[in-house]
Amino acid sequence: MLADRRILLIIGGGIAAYKSLSLIRLLKGAGAAVTPVLTKAGAEFVTALSVGALAGEKVHSALFDLTAEAEMGHIELSRSADLIVVAPATADLMARMATGQADDLASTLLLATDTPVLLAPAMNVRMWQHAATQRNLATLRGDGIRFVGPDDGAMACGEFGPGRMAEPEAIFAAIASAFEAGPLQGRHVLVTSGPTHEPIDPVRFIANRSSGAQGTAIAAALRDLGARVTFVTGPAEVAPPQGVAVVRVETAVQMLAAVSAALPADAAVMAAAVADWRVLNASGSKMKKDGSGQAPALQFVENPDILASVSKGHTRPRLVVGFAAETDDVLANARAKRLRKGCDWIVANDVSPETGIMGGAENAVTLIRAEGEEVWPRMAKDDVARRLALCIADALKDE
Ligand code: CTP
Repeated sequence: MLADRRILLIIGGGIAAYKSLSLIRLLKGAGAAVTPVLTKAGAEFVTALSVGALAGEKVHSALFDLTAEAEMGHIELSRSADLIVVAPATADLMARMATGQADDLASTLLLATDTPVLLAPAMNVRMWQHAATQRNLATLRGDGIRFVGPDDGAMACGEFGPGRMAEPEAIFAAIASAFEAGPLQGRHVLVTSGPTHEPIDPVRFIANRSSGAQGTAIAAALRDLGARVTFVTGPAEVAPPQGVAVVRVETAVQMLAAVSAALPADAAVMAAAVADWRVLNASGSKMKKDGSGQAPALQFVENPDILASVSKGHTRPRLVVGFAAETDDVLANARAKRLRKGCDWIVANDVSPETGIMGGAENAVTLIRAEGEEVWPRMAKDDVARRLALCIADALKDE
């Protein structure tokens, strides 16, 4: 599995850096080549001599190293690797990656590459739990960065909790599995996400509170399992994930056209909050007050139901998944919606304002299928996405 693979190993500054020495031994033992990069802070914890001796290769550390540039430029260094591993990944390095900084060799390599990246975070428990680190984690996950650990346990700083770097064996296993084909390899999955905007006139529109967070997380999770993802998104707050084909639309009618053009697909997940109606008498020029005090009367016409048309269309994906965002009688409405729209599964959630789900980071859903219903505990939208992606992979596996 790892024979002849080249791993670029970035060793950051943390007490866990010593574990990277065992990781190098495991990788070398499995036949992989290891190109080590030691950050300035990393060199405070392990020496270039021991890293270089174990890897059997030159240790890179300076961004502006004339000899290294002559032999192999820093861009080439990252591109020639099959996988980039950062162990330990410090809170600081995660923050610099999340904001796209390139102020030393490690961060420059990470920014200059499209090679898959695996991080093994290691930091004090409070640093790990800090909102800033959790925000950076979510950003990096959205960018397609993989993670192993951190583990829970006693830490060198004397505290206890999550933040300890994963053991070298666990990092090694994560590296090995990064080279396995994901269960959705070769599958095409279509995902809709975000709100739609329905114009009233050239400067005004009708919208809804969907941020696009859940749809974006689903697209990223499907991509991580190896799927080719087409991501049709309305004007969302959350940026689309890396590594998927993004089609941006504004209105429901445009979304239907983009979805139809993206078929065929093996599965479709319709997470968009599509406006049910559009304005029939939308004005081509800005509507003005006419001084009479009379408000304009907007007339509405129903939008096409994208989920229903995909579920009932000729090029129906084998698996069609809809969402039911409800505020009352959530399950009863969702069950009826599944049958009415003809989709296979419905992910039901309660979006009453007091749940904080719409626009929030968490979701509490029930997955409704013909064969039964599963109530999932409240969890991060990223976790809902990963669990749903695994269910989709399972449903598509026998063909
Ligand atoms: N949906 C769609 N096209 C529409 C409306 C909804 O594809 N015009 C999809 C959504 O992406 C979601 C599912 O249908 O997967 C349910 O959306 P929801 O807004 O909850 O349902 P509605 O069709 O609006 O039903 P109701 O008016 O009963 O709430």
